[in-house]
Amino acid sequence: MELKIALLKGDGIGPEIVDSAVAVLEKTAEKFGHRFIFTPYLIGGCAIDETSLPLPQETVDGCLASDSVILGAVGGPKWDGLAGDIRPEKALLGIRSAMGLFTNLRPAKLYPALRSASPLKDEIVGDGFDLLIVRELTGGIYFGERGYREGRYGTEAFDTEAYSVTEIERIGKVAFEAAMKRSKRICSIDKANVLESSRLWRKTMHELAEKYPDVEYRDMFVDNAAMQLVRDPKQFDVIVTSNMFGDILSDEASQITGSIGMLASASLGASKRGLYEPIHGSAPDIAGKNMANPIATILSGAMMLRYSFGLTAEAGTIEKAVDKVLDQGLRTADLMGSSLDTPLSCTAMTEAILKAI
Ligand code: NAI
Ligand code: MG
Repeated sequence: MELKIALLKGDGIGPEIVDSAVAVLEKTAEKFGHRFIFTPYLIGGCAIDETSLPLPQETVDGCLASDSVILGAVGGPKWDGLAGDIRPEKALLGIRSAMGLFTNLRPAKLYPALRSASPLKDEIVGDGFDLLIVRELTGGIYFGERGYREGRYGTEAFDTEAYSVTEIERIGKVAFEAAMKRSKRICSIDKANVLESSRLWRKTMHELAEKYPDVEYRDMFVDNAAMQLVRDPKQFDVIVTSNMFGDILSDEASQITGSIGMLASASLGASKRGLYEPIHGSAPDIAGKNMANPIATILSGAMMLRYSFGLTAEAGTIEKAVDKVLDQGLRTADLMGSSLDTPLSCTAMTEAILKAI
């Protein structure tokens, strides 16, 4: 396959970790006989410096003309004082909405080799867990009607949670399709005992579940889910939920793995084109020091192969290479805890993964 990939390296460690992901994707392409054509575009603080805009039109056009997009991270102290729309973070919302990305996929995986990084007890974690949160990204309370009005106790502010069958179905389908490619278990999380929008969510998910008889479906109230995630995360495989519940639960799920430098994410829309990025930020404290853990971005590249291009074996090869280097005990500084060994640099970790591929 020949595929065009836009690179939004961004700020801080962004360029270092995106370069690592590119090296890994090139190696994988070579192994499987594909050709990936990478084109860099400006985003975030570096784009402000060069063009005075965080998201230049050329970047949007370049992303829309590509088969997929990899993003590093944006922002840093240099641009913290900027107000209004000329802020690096504005570019993130801008590119997500320009690309129509209504799905956010966040895997939360605890690698057995990184067991000690998780705050959870041994008897809860066992040999690790691996779950995927599918969060609706462009609807719900973050996008609903809002404002101020006169209420019983004077002026009040309000926000509105609204979901249509169309919105619920399209995120549901993504989640069920993802479940079909994994262990065929899905849990839909809502608050249907209280919220009307959740009742429609639940009804629509039940109807969808009938179309996927091979997938084991259940639903759960969000307050219980927040508790179950730390009580017994292994009970979950795919979780599908609304924008706000997904925002909260995905942060909870990522923290119980204990390693911010490991976690990848994908944002998807109606087309195959997606935006793939690590969940962490631009880490200004370690930028330019060749210390960053490139694995979250490398695994984001693997997600791109799987979800945008359907290259499952290729994605698996990258993921297995990551497993292998971790099993060998190779660690960047963020994964070392209090160990006195010398950590691997960003480039050395990348080299090790290339070798494992
Ligand atoms: P951060 O995720 O950049 O860093 C938090 C801590 O984790 C830091 O100590 C950092 O060194 C460490 N860390 C993060 N990624 C790492 C990696 N790959 N390897 C090793 N260590 C890593 O979050 P923080 O400090 O809150 O934000 C820094 C900047 O990043 C801010 O300007 C913020 O707005 C921006 N940001 C951007 C995001 C994005 O582009 N999607 C997301 C979150 C924050
Ligand atoms: Mg959040």
